[in-house]
Amino acid sequence: MSKKVISEKKIAVCPGSFDPITYGHLDIIRRARHVFDEVYIAVLNNSNKKGLFTIDERLSLIEQSLDGDMDGIFVESFQGLLVDYCKQVDAHVIVRGLRAVSDFEYEMQLTSMNKALAPNIDTFYIQARNEYSFVSSSVVKDVVKHGGQASDFVPDIVANALSQKFNQ
Ligand code: PNS
Repeated sequence: MSKKVISEKKIAVCPGSFDPITYGHLDIIRRARHVFDEVYIAVLNNSNKKGLFTIDERLSLIEQSLDGDMDGIFVESFQGLLVDYCKQVDAHVIVRGLRAVSDFEYEMQLTSMNKALAPNIDTFYIQARNEYSFVSSSVVKDVVKHGGQASDFVPDIVANALSQKFNQ
């Protein structure tokens, strides 16, 4: 009986670099959580690509940005193939945010490759809210690097962490 309940849980993975998390990411995660029983925020730990924040810093910023609203949300890092991570957490859905048509070409490639690797895993896209359609981790980093304000685009905890990084 309990086994059946577990297997009926709808589990999704929201993967990404999250270097750092933005309000755009948080909106997609919360909207995914409205649909799925469990959402795993999966931060790619890519040894070939050094980010601004360490993996531990990214995980911590995500957890702090969720501000206690963690019911059914898990924050983890992963290495290797995304589809292998999905299998590990028993997720059959990958959720990605789409900001503009320009995102679509890249996302289509990821989706098709993941589908070829794991035919029973689907990718669902959630369209970003208009107010976040131009927000990306890289653009926000650039703004702060050049002395601009990031507080409209990322939680205060992230804005402070960005300022600290660039003032070090
Ligand atoms: O936020 P990002 O950087 O656009 O996220 C990209 C991510 C992490 C989803 C993608 O690079 C990924 O899934 N990497 C894991 C390696 C993998 O599974 N590659 C095959 C599918 S392209």
